[in-house]
Amino acid sequence: MTYLFPNYSRKPIEFIKGEKNHLFDKNGKKYLDFTSGIGVMNLGYDHPLINQALQKQAAEIWHTPNLYENSLQEEAAKLLAGEQDYLAYFCNSGAEANEAAIKLARKATGRSKIITFEQSFHGRTFGAMSATGQAAIHRGFYPLLPEFVYVPFNSMEMLKRELDQHTAAVMLELIQGEGGVIPAEEEWIKELAEICEKNGSLLIVDEVQTGIGRTGTFYASEAYGIEPDIITLAKGLGNGFPVGAMLGKGKYADVFQAGSHGSTFGGNKLGMAVAGKVVELVRNPEFLAEADKKGTAAIESLKNKLADNSVVVDVRGKGLMIGIQLTDSQLVGEALEQLEQKGIMVLKAGTTVLRLLPPLTITETELSEGIEIICQVLEELAYV
Ligand SMILES: Cc1ncc(COP(=O)(O)O)c(C=O)c1O
Repeated sequence: MTYLFPNYSRKPIEFIKGEKNHLFDKNGKKYLDFTSGIGVMNLGYDHPLINQALQKQAAEIWHTPNLYENSLQEEAAKLLAGEQDYLAYFCNSGAEANEAAIKLARKATGRSKIITFEQSFHGRTFGAMSATGQAAIHRGFYPLLPEFVYVPFNSMEMLKRELDQHTAAVMLELIQGEGGVIPAEEEWIKELAEICEKNGSLLIVDEVQTGIGRTGTFYASEAYGIEPDIITLAKGLGNGFPVGAMLGKGKYADVFQAGSHGSTFGGNKLGMAVAGKVVELVRNPEFLAEADKKGTAAIESLKNKLADNSVVVDVRGKGLMIGIQLTDSQLVGEALEQLEQKGIMVLKAGTTVLRLLPPLTITETELSEGIEIICQVLEELAYV
């Protein structure tokens, strides 16, 4: 008997404790975590400074409405902007951040068409779902919001054909996460940014999964050498506390005047106390360099070890966002099952990809341990 909607296919495991980069289920079994709760727990499960920030704020005040000043929002926004000219709007999730981005782009340009990409994922609210380029996610919900157009990723032809005077924005993930850990090609992104600018269309980069150090730089867009008009964030921003953000260039300040957008809980004091501390800790060049180094080494090691494996098609990714593409979807299910039995949690992406998103705090020893087990499982599957 359940009192819940069956909208998630849940495994019969309940985690009741997390310690650094490990999870414990209710039977006491310990798991090495290569999921970060789907790219959320970038600083691990019990970071003392995050816990302290939350507890200190909880003892003072949890919530004040957005009718009053909020210095914690100011501090978090300043940390997120860094040296760049961004203003922040805070919300509670990735989908909400993308809704804000869609509204800002449409109002700023007075245009309504938004171009997104096949296999993209931008969330489950109606706008974010309509932006998502996956028929499986749309099924049962037609008609979607009008004016969203999906074109092939890493390809210019259709994009150029669709980019016109009605296009408010082009919206994309620099590494498609849910779609299968598919990195955008650098040259393509540079040209895409240029043609958007020429056309007066905003470039929205959805960094809900790639942001907050996941790909080895604080924002994935830094590594691509672009400055998007809009960046959306969530997941790692609250390290488990529900926080999302939309960052938009300062020149769009007048577009979001009082009354144009808002959220009761967005920028809530508890969330801001946590997000501020997360950004302070992750946006540290040494921490980021270390995460990048661990990710690069992990990808290299997986590529070497899996080079001759007949069920592995590709190993790809950036930083600690890694995909291992297998020859068929059934193998992914079998691999996940066996990894779980051996005490390591891994995710699926697309239909044929094993996705590794370990906490950025993972140690080199833990990474090697996990990689060993993954390679062993994949080797066994290749011999079946
Ligand atoms: C790139 C991207 N955008 C948006 C979302 C939606 O975020 P949320 O589930 O917090 O609404 C996700 C979630 O997986 C994501 O990966």
